[in-house]
Amino acid sequence: MTKFTINACNKKCEIKPELYGHFSEHLGRCIYEGIYVGEDSSIENTNGMRNDVTEALRNIRIPVLRWPGGCFADEYHWRDGIGPKETRKKMINTHWGGVIEDNSFGTHEFMELCNQLGCQPYINGNVGSGTVEEMQNWVEYITFSGVSPMAEMRERNGRQEPWKLKYFGIGNENWGCGGNMRPEYYADEYRRYQTYVRNYGDNKIFRIACGPSGDDYNWTEVLMKSAARFMDALTLHYYTVPGPNWETKGSATDFTLDEWYTTLNKTMKMEEFITKHVAIMRRYDPENKVGLIVDEWGTWYDVEPGTNPGFLYQQNTMRDALVAAINLNIFNKHSDSVVMANIAQTVNVLQAVILTEGEKMLLTPTYHVFEMYKEHQGAILLDSFIDTKTIGTKEAELPNLVESVSMDEDGKIHVTICNLSADEGYTIDAEIAGFKAKDITGRILTGALSDHNTFEDPSRVMPKAFDKHSVTQKGFTMEIPAASVVSLTLK
Ligand code: AHR
Repeated sequence: MTKFTINACNKKCEIKPELYGHFSEHLGRCIYEGIYVGEDSSIENTNGMRNDVTEALRNIRIPVLRWPGGCFADEYHWRDGIGPKETRKKMINTHWGGVIEDNSFGTHEFMELCNQLGCQPYINGNVGSGTVEEMQNWVEYITFSGVSPMAEMRERNGRQEPWKLKYFGIGNENWGCGGNMRPEYYADEYRRYQTYVRNYGDNKIFRIACGPSGDDYNWTEVLMKSAARFMDALTLHYYTVPGPNWETKGSATDFTLDEWYTTLNKTMKMEEFITKHVAIMRRYDPENKVGLIVDEWGTWYDVEPGTNPGFLYQQNTMRDALVAAINLNIFNKHSDSVVMANIAQTVNVLQAVILTEGEKMLLTPTYHVFEMYKEHQGAILLDSFIDTKTIGTKEAELPNLVESVSMDEDGKIHVTICNLSADEGYTIDAEIAGFKAKDITGRILTGALSDHNTFEDPSRVMPKAFDKHSVTQKGFTMEIPAASVVSLTLK
């Protein structure tokens, strides 16, 4: 029997809805085809945005969407994507697949998309190959309401009122595709660029600095030392790559039991990275003013056979569901310091929540995890602890269970728990202090390890009602099967 304790008297902090954010880049079929099909498409759309996709994203309460990249951001010049579509520049997307970028999706289209989704826009500016003036003008174009060349240009392009824009990133991966900078150099560049990212009227920009990749603690140290007082958040990028290197990342669907555990073990590293980066951040920012944003996370496999290697299109199995469930539980538990997290990437790229093929669309196992976890958004994290045992392989040891618990504004408790074991189920005995459960409802996502949804069989992996639980004197008990994600609501 596994002991699980929840302390409903120890209410920690809000789980910011933004922890359930998404990232969409001009990469492969994410924006074009996946989200934006144009007004003349035979696929049902509203102002060019696919209705099936926007509806699905609204259904998981997408809180924030990051755009236009990624590596694309540091090559993007926003003026190419405004004005009449027929006059917009056509060019090669040099970073991703060498395809033609016709700039038909630009600033106005992105803001329209966020409006349809009811989410916050998060725009990533160009430091690597852009100028300070260009970045300054973009923010002015979007947010300024007075008399100015940028506001006039926006009006000429059909938008009189400025938009509200909170989240603005100053460069992306500037240690790599964003200019191969040293942290000392980027820190100075960051200070300079952010100076001209202005707040107009009551629009207050939340300034986001490019942070480290994985365990690059020196990057965090230098950035915090030199520029902490100029930023609201620092980003962290970490991808779960099962293979030993970037050349052999491994297949999305065809993997061994060892690879199941290696993948989940690598995902669990997120916990360590967050803890260690935050510890450095707090030394320079003891008042916890600078948040950590896990700006890009998710699995990264070899592309699906026969697809463009530059498009990063991959399938999504129960293994991805577990990766998502683990990460979201980790983010919840760190919601005192992690202020946003964006999975890479929304549609058709990497650990996508949605895949499309022409008119067809499917929801991946990862989508279902986001849907099952959505009640955590905006709820209060509760103190909880589960007695885990070590499972996996000698090279990839990991805990068998990962959980998080929150209480919503109506006083309901939401428990999400995942079983990382490929073949062992567990009986869990939960004790709750300060709350008497009268009624429990649950859902489960489970299946064979490599089960996934295809366009022929789109509902193979779907959440189902879960009733292997019962209320006890002190809390509840439940039976969690192998390789599964469970969400419970306690009233
Ligand atoms: O998400 C794909 C790429 O991964 C992004 O463009 C980049 O920021 C990261 O290296």
